[in-house]
Amino acid sequence: MTEINSFAELHRVLPQIETMKTDIEKRRAWRSHAISQDLRDQIATPFQNIDPASDTYKERMMEMFSMLRKKDYSFDDEGGSVGNVENYLANPIPYRFGDPALIGEFLMSYGHIIKVIGDHTRNLGRMPRVLELGCGQGALSHFLTRSHLDVTCLDISASMTEITRGATRQAHKAPQVVTASFEGFEPDGQYDVVLFYESFHHCLNNNAMVAKYRDALAHGGMLIFAAEPIVPTVSPFVPYPWGLRLDMVSLRAIVLKGWLELGFQRPYFLQMLKRHGLAVEELNVQGIHRCAIVVATRA
Ligand SMILES: C[S@@+](CC[C@H](N)C(=O)[O-])C[C@H]1O[C@@H](n2cnc3c(N)ncnc32)[C@H](O)[C@@H]1O
Repeated sequence: MTEINSFAELHRVLPQIETMKTDIEKRRAWRSHAISQDLRDQIATPFQNIDPASDTYKERMMEMFSMLRKKDYSFDDEGGSVGNVENYLANPIPYRFGDPALIGEFLMSYGHIIKVIGDHTRNLGRMPRVLELGCGQGALSHFLTRSHLDVTCLDISASMTEITRGATRQAHKAPQVVTASFEGFEPDGQYDVVLFYESFHHCLNNNAMVAKYRDALAHGGMLIFAAEPIVPTVSPFVPYPWGLRLDMVSLRAIVLKGWLELGFQRPYFLQMLKRHGLAVEELNVQGIHRCAIVVATRA
């Protein structure tokens, strides 16, 4: 394992790895590097003894982001843009990953979410309304929209929503596809389900977003947080209640792409939901991370 001891070293090593030709080489290189305990402590120390729900904490986290990224966070960097949309649609996520075991995990997680939604909304007597936030390339949207659900898909990136439109062409009911931020979107009504799949960890205003989307729920509706980086209290990658993840893959996305890659310690995350008056349940399938979902129901 090669230890990285300073920001300067991190800024030198990450671009070097990026020049490697294949994904396999890159993955091997990320796995064989880690930031040192000293650098980890240097990053985590400013957050000790500060209320993690406070503005001060959030502002310090953004200062840390700017030090890593060498410029300020911008929504414009999230999601990014892609080239030919048809190429993405011809070889979509998760099949594009080329690993049958990983593809199986994704499909299991999609099935798990749809079943949880179906069980929860069984007695509604109408098509359940689902708001999918941070839909990316519509990998899950494809299955949601074919499952007799009335879906609104949202992403901040116009490239992503363009792909999502294509990915949901075979919908049972055509979804509304919206290009907007979590922060800027104004929910037009009462959703039975508001769903984040690997996207809540891009919410800087995580506390405020929980309150906002709790209020977008109909009575008895539920928030679902699926496959989010929620770690135990002691984790080398999230050494604070919430904040930037410190594994090499996340640091690469922060430093080189400008994506906000947050992680949450489990007690902080569950407490935050409970503070907002939500009843919380954790559901999983066979201990598979991608299938781990937190369901928060509006009482
Ligand atoms: C890791 S991807 C998850 C994609 C998708 N849920 C999936 O399962 O494939 C995170 C997505 O969140 C979107 N995103 C990031 N920040 C956002 C924000 N503030 N508002 C809306 N979308 C955002 C990104 O554009 C990206 O498509």
